[in-house]
Amino acid sequence: MPFPIKTVRATYPALSDGYAYLDGAAGTQMPQSVIDAISTAYRTGIGNVGGAFPASHRSDAIVAACRAAVADLVGGHPDGVILGPNMTTLTYRLARAIAGPGDEVVVSRLDHDANVRPWTQTGATVRWAEVDPVTGELPVEQYESLIGERTKVVAVTAASNILGTRPDVPAIAELAHRAGALTYVDGVHATPHGPVDMRELGADFYATSAYKWSGPHIGAVVADPALLETIRPDKLASSSDTVPERFETGTAAFADLDGVTAAVDHLASMVPGTGSRRERLLASMAAAEEHELALFQVLIEGLETMPHVTVYGKPARRTATAYFNVSGHTPRQVAEHLARLGVNVWNGHNYAWELTGVLGIRESGGAVRAGLVHYNDRSDVDRLLEGVASME
Ligand SMILES: Cc1ncc(COP(=O)(O)O)c(C=O)c1O
Repeated sequence: MPFPIKTVRATYPALSDGYAYLDGAAGTQMPQSVIDAISTAYRTGIGNVGGAFPASHRSDAIVAACRAAVADLVGGHPDGVILGPNMTTLTYRLARAIAGPGDEVVVSRLDHDANVRPWTQTGATVRWAEVDPVTGELPVEQYESLIGERTKVVAVTAASNILGTRPDVPAIAELAHRAGALTYVDGVHATPHGPVDMRELGADFYATSAYKWSGPHIGAVVADPALLETIRPDKLASSSDTVPERFETGTAAFADLDGVTAAVDHLASMVPGTGSRRERLLASMAAAEEHELALFQVLIEGLETMPHVTVYGKPARRTATAYFNVSGHTPRQVAEHLARLGVNVWNGHNYAWELTGVLGIRESGGAVRAGLVHYNDRSDVDRLLEGVASME
């Protein structure tokens, strides 16, 4: 059955403004069901958690439902879902609690800086995994010599947020586990682009951000609750010491958490299906991935055949994310030109700080990123290609 793109698009009110939203890698739009869930939570009345009255009980239920939804999305356990404002904040919190002076951490130059700096700033000895600047691949073999008996954590992305590269995380995780190290997998870019199974990836920690998959600005890190029991983050004396609350500082954005659950339900129902929510998510996200990659073939081939365009990376396994420059124009000028034509793309290093350094374009403004998510259609791709072609 073909992906029901028209039906899916119709659920997103913002898409009716006439723009081609190719900026999903920086944040997606929200379907009406998510907007409704958030506003309904506020309209119905919510309280802080743990109180004696119904509005507080509603917040208790919202938090529990959100943990269950995120666990379904990534194949984790609800009691191991840590919720917070965004991935960066949660990763800093966890990194400080996990690694420190005397440990070794392995980070990669493929990663978004949010899975690099929190580890390099722990005081641990840092080992770097290098990227092939031409293909954009992260060779696995190098991890054999990077990982040793003092390695505490191997931090690696499940997909590059600029090149789309999907490294062989299971193989890297196997090497890490053989040495007794933990894996911290950044799934922020990968999660919206296909089915996720954090156990298959070998992720001890899997980080994701709901605003990249049609939800509000909420981050989550998922781990085995038994592993979380062994970690002691900084926390208030007065706050809960149970897992996962131990890792959650301050008061949560309860209404937004209801939006996260609605976003997971939305992802699970993009194609008709039966079975548990987890089963429907796997089927729906597989269909979305197929849809994205078919469109991406047109997009990337179109860019690669334009003589005035330089496309970065050619990874074998990737998300539908293109990163390119147009000769004679800065990335910002390209983005401004496309914006005038009603096409939203991102320009810059996109926080892929190390990778844009490896590509030699960080100081010159990076490049232009055009990425597809499930709600993009052929006309979005055609408008991008026409807009870039007109800059020759
Ligand atoms: C791959 C990747 N990792 C981490 C982040 C940071 O996520 P957050 O904004 O939730 O801190 C981003 C955000 O763009 C990202 O694309």
